[in-house]
Amino acid sequence: MPKRKSPNAKKLVQSTLQFKSAATVVKCSKCLMTYSTNSPSDLVQHKRYHDLHLNGRKWSAGWGDIVSRVELRMFEKQLDCNGTGETGNRKLSFQLRPQSTYEENEYIVMISPKKPNEVKATLDLMAVVNEELSAPHDENAFWSEFPEPEKPQGKAFVYVKKNRAVGVITIEHIEKTDRGKWMVLDTKSIVPNVIPDVKLGISRIWVSRNHRKHGIATRLLEIARKKSIYGCIVNKWELAWSQPSQSGSILARRYNAVKHQSGKLLLPCYI
Ligand SMILES: CC(C)(COP(=O)(O)OP(=O)(O)OC[C@H]1O[C@@H](n2cnc3c(N)ncnc32)[C@H](O)[C@@H]1OP(=O)(O)O)[C@@H](O)C(=O)NCCC(=O)NCCS
Ligand SMILES: [Zn+2]
Repeated sequence: MPKRKSPNAKKLVQSTLQFKSAATVVKCSKCLMTYSTNSPSDLVQHKRYHDLHLNGRKWSAGWGDIVSRVELRMFEKQLDCNGTGETGNRKLSFQLRPQSTYEENEYIVMISPKKPNEVKATLDLMAVVNEELSAPHDENAFWSEFPEPEKPQGKAFVYVKKNRAVGVITIEHIEKTDRGKWMVLDTKSIVPNVIPDVKLGISRIWVSRNHRKHGIATRLLEIARKKSIYGCIVNKWELAWSQPSQSGSILARRYNAVKHQSGKLLLPCYI
């Protein structure tokens, strides 16, 4: 016979202990990604994003045609000549390096639209670049697709270091001369009624975070000037910027700003 409940019996409620977890959304100070430390998929995504943004994309040796090798640092080269170097009164001796005057495993390649693997790898890299710049993701056709006959082709150059693509520049050919403008660097205003005859436009330039401020972007700009148009070296002022970012403006100021007679610095730009 079942026990009858006494009307005065207290209703028992199962209690559960709730542990409030600490705040889970964090912003990585290195790659600046915001993610949740409680979400396994966020953790995986952050790991991938972090590595790509800091160290670049893995790059196969056969991708791209090498257009430039990076010379050994000047100081090391001088020492290589005689194996000694003087610092003040101290005479130091150094081991001779091998004959080559180039950095091993550090070079710039030009991407061929005919080669799907290198195009795909560069498109992967461009996705990272556009994410960081909050720029449109669909502006690659000018370098990645095979050109129509008679139409000038844009170019993509990738900086490879230790089997990683650590920098990239994409360059548009500017056919219509009236696309060129001078921009006042400090105010970002456009100088009216003057149209510089620029030849190339920098669509994107990017260097992975761990490799910045080592001259990589400057080398990419130099190669773009020399190798974008077959047989022609474009002047620095003919290489134009489009809406330079904050760090892009610093680079542009150093690389190809021109001083106007008013004392203001002007940047070649295109629209
Ligand atoms: C802009 C960017 C490409 C520069 O790459 P980089 O390889 O570091 O540039 P470099 O080392 O060739 O720098 C050239 C000069 O500019 C200076 N410079 C470049 N970026 C700088 C920055 N953020 N702050 C201070 N100086 C900077 C360098 O110190 C160097 O000066 P120096 O010649 O007196 O030594 C890189 O910061 C980047 O990828 N930024 C994010 C993407 C972006 O904004 N791209 C530009 C779009 S317009
Ligand atoms: Zn990170």
